[in-house]
Order: sequence, then C-alpha cells, then structure tokens
Amino acid sequence: MAVLAINGGRPTRNVKANPWPSWPVWDGKEEKALLEVLNSGIWSYNGPKEIEFNKLFAEYIGSNYAISASNGTVTLQLALEALGIGYGDEVILPGLTWQATAATIIDVNAVPIIVDVCPDTWCIDPKEVEKAITPKTKAIIPVHLYGSFADMDAIMDIAEKHNLFVIEDCAHKPGGEWNGKKAGSIGDIGSFSFQLSKHLTAGEGGGLTTNNPSLAEKLDALRNCGRRPESGEYSQEDKGAGFYSDDGNFIQSGNYRITEFQAAILIEGLKRLPEQNSIRDRNGLYMNSLLEDLSGVSPMRRDKRETKEAYFNFAFRYNKEDFNGLPVGKFRKALESELGIGVDSSYEPLNMCSLYVPLTKPSRYKINDKHWAAIDPSRFSLPISERIFKEESVCVHNKILLGSQADMDLIAEAIRKIYDNVIELLK
Ligand SMILES: Cc1ncc(COP(=O)(O)O)c(C=O)c1O
Repeated sequence: MAVLAINGGRPTRNVKANPWPSWPVWDGKEEKALLEVLNSGIWSYNGPKEIEFNKLFAEYIGSNYAISASNGTVTLQLALEALGIGYGDEVILPGLTWQATAATIIDVNAVPIIVDVCPDTWCIDPKEVEKAITPKTKAIIPVHLYGSFADMDAIMDIAEKHNLFVIEDCAHKPGGEWNGKKAGSIGDIGSFSFQLSKHLTAGEGGGLTTNNPSLAEKLDALRNCGRRPESGEYSQEDKGAGFYSDDGNFIQSGNYRITEFQAAILIEGLKRLPEQNSIRDRNGLYMNSLLEDLSGVSPMRRDKRETKEAYFNFAFRYNKEDFNGLPVGKFRKALESELGIGVDSSYEPLNMCSLYVPLTKPSRYKINDKHWAAIDPSRFSLPISERIFKEESVCVHNKILLGSQADMDLIAEAIRKIYDNVIELLK
C-alpha cells in the first residue's frame, strides 16, 4: 500500500477539512472604500485615494516620497528613465529574478549585465557585481528575492566607490528591514509590485520610493505622460538639468497611472501589512528552525542584518543526494500532493528564461549589431542560478506562513514523510 499522497496514500494535510489561509485577504473595509470611489466619480488621475496612499506608503517605507504607478514592471522602467539610463549604459542585475527586472533595462535601450547570485540567499552576489563593472556601468538593481535580502551594505559600498545608482527591486519585500531600514529606503529608488500574488496587492499596481526630491519629481512626471507635477509639490531647487523641455513643461512619456480603485484597496491592505508580515516572519523563523533538523533540506541563510523579513515565497534548498538521487521536480510534486498547495521552483535563470527572450524582437531592439550581441542573455554564465533552479529550489507562496505553528509542523512532517518513503518515488 502506498504511503505517499502522490501515489494514492493519505495526504499529510486534508485541505478540504483544513484549508490553508487564502489569498488575497479583504473584508468590508475594502468593499466600503471601493463603493466610496465608485460613487465619487473620481476613478483616477491624482485622486484623493492615490494621494493618501502615496503619503501612507512613504511613511511606512521611511522614504521622503512615494509615487504609485500601474504595475511593478513600469516602476522599474520609470526608475531607469528618471536616472537618465539609456543607450550605451550597462545595468547590473542578478540572474535569478522575474524577467521584468531585465526586460525593462532593454526597454530603455540599455544593456542588462546579468551576474550570479549567492548560493545561500539566492540574491545578487556583491563579488560578481564588482567583477562586472565597466566604464559603461550606470546602476545596480539588487532584487530582494522571496524571503531573502540582497546584501545592501556591500551593494551600497560598491555603488559609492564606483559612483553608480542603486534601484532596489522590492517587489518581494514591502516592509522587510535591513539594519532597521526598510527595503526601498536604502538605494536611490525603490520599486514595488502590487500584483495579486504580492503581499500588498490591488490585483495590479506598482510603487516607487525615493528620498530625492528631484527624482521624485521626475518619477511623478514620467508616470503621468510627462506632465510637470503641481508646483511646490516637490522641492523646486533641483529640477534635473535638461530634464524638461525648453518651455519647462514636458518630458516625453506615457500613461502609467494607478486608478483610485487600486489606491483604495492598497490603503486598506497597508493597514494589515505590518501584522501579516510579523506573522509570516515568526512562522518563517520557526519553519527554518524545523528545516535545520530535517535531512535533505536546508533553510535559506538569514543574515543577522535582516531585522524584519517580508516573505513573498517561503523558499528552501533541497539536496538530491540525501533523497537517494530523487530529482527536485519529483520532490516538489510529492510535497504538493502531501500539502495540497502549489510548490514551485525558483524563477528560471535569465540566461535561459522562457519569458526573457529579447532576440525575438529585432524590430525593437536591433539598434545595431553590437547592441544586439550585447543583449543576448545566453552570453552570461550563471552556474549557481542554474543549479538553484534545476536542482535545489523549493518555493511556496507566502500565504502558508499566515497559518499557525501547527501548520508549520505539518509542512515539516510532509517533508519527513517523503524522505522516509522516498523509495516509493524511485520505483
Ligand atoms: C522581482 C520582481 N520584479 C518586478 C516584478 C514586476 O511586477 P509586476 O508584475 O507588478 O509588473 C515582479 C513581479 O512578479 C517581480 O517578482
């Protein structure tokens, strides 16, 4: 008789009787706020909810300014544009991230320089960043991936030494803290996604944070078809030489605005976020302590400087040798059956990512042969990212961390059960 759920045995968790916490979370407050927007007739364009959310989000992140936009892809693009990054420039980013981090770099005609990650945090390796710097380098985009933080001390030191900009990709990290400072308040610009799977969500949406008034003014203009923000909204001292046209009004841009409906939901979600983050952090720490004691798996390294975590996915590392050579993909499927929840790999490394294929678009990106060769992702060697993706990564959506301590025990029990019965999967 099979023991493992994937072979017809009894699952570790009966999700019908005992479902996992659901995502997204909302209640009557969202309903009320949405109706308020509906009835007001102000559905977009610098409305009161957007203004309020920007203020609250800036306060929460601890940045001087926050500017909302339509999603966390355009926020990266606008950040690059606000920093004046374009043709002829290089931007360094990690090999393990969502494709948007790289795609937006080529969308502004710059060249993504993809470097490998640290094996125990899966975030950009500062040593690889140093090695990749050339006279053309303009910026670094560290991505705080899943439940880890990029080493922001090292990144900021490198940036200072080489006079580079830092855009923090905080899509996975609203509320996470490094040495007591929130993600998005450390680099020049923070970029956030409010897409449905994210822990602060309006279905879609994005946010930008900065302490620099001149950058805030540019970001505001860029997300609003290039219109100059209301006079006095940001410091008027430094407008950024050459940014506006001669009549002082416009920069070429497009419509990347958020709606009032999104902002209304985000205001309510932001009220819940600190509490949800601390539940996830507490359970994440507990889960990691359980993983320490299990054979064949290990937790992500949590740096002492990560004073608060904000898990997007709960990730851990799998060691196939300890499971008699069972490929990680089969382990993930077995775990999925035990727990009744999706279990994924990490992102595909950017040098072999099915959704990062710039060479499929010559009409847009073939500026010249040299540029075309430079943006070919396959020229980058990313052995650690590839190993993580192909052999080690196990990722589960953060909603499992909103459960109880007993739920965490159950996850550990499922892993132990697969380990003890691995023979069933090797047949
Ligand atoms: C690391 C990272 N950066 C950027 C994005 C893009 O955000 P959005 O989906 O809101 O465009 C995502 C979305 O998954 C992401 O995970």
